[in-house]
Amino acid sequence: MVLAQKARINSYSPYSHYSVGAALLAASGRVYTGCNVENASYGLTVCAERVAVWKGVSEGEKEFTAVAIASDNSASPCGACRQVLAEFAGGKDGLQRFRVLLVNPRGERQSFTLAELLPEAFSAAKLRRA
Ligand code: THU
Repeated sequence: MVLAQKARINSYSPYSHYSVGAALLAASGRVYTGCNVENASYGLTVCAERVAVWKGVSEGEKEFTAVAIASDNSASPCGACRQVLAEFAGGKDGLQRFRVLLVNPRGERQSFTLAELLPEAFSAAKLRRA
């Protein structure tokens, strides 16, 4: 959680002025951090969570088990980030194990599973045809 708060400091958010930090725990035990990176072409903005996933996967990770997300008011991951996290949560059972922790500067914490945040997730299993 401290790592997510530290990552938040590097947020590039001159348009929304809403800074977010993420710390993503890989199955390997390594932690990858990220912050939101905005763009003058707003739609190109990437959330803190996805930056952390891109960093981890580009370093060879394929599975993550938890993410801590730090913001001013306990932001919950957007739908796109939920889907991206689900891709690397280790299959259907993985969604039930994967923890999403929301933290804010007042020390308030909330904990969810990814299965709670993304019920009936679309996954690679649906793409497999007999
Ligand atoms: N944002 C994140 O980085 N993560 C979230 O969980 C929610 C939203 C960012 C995207 C954008 O830079 C800013 O917060 C406002 O939407």
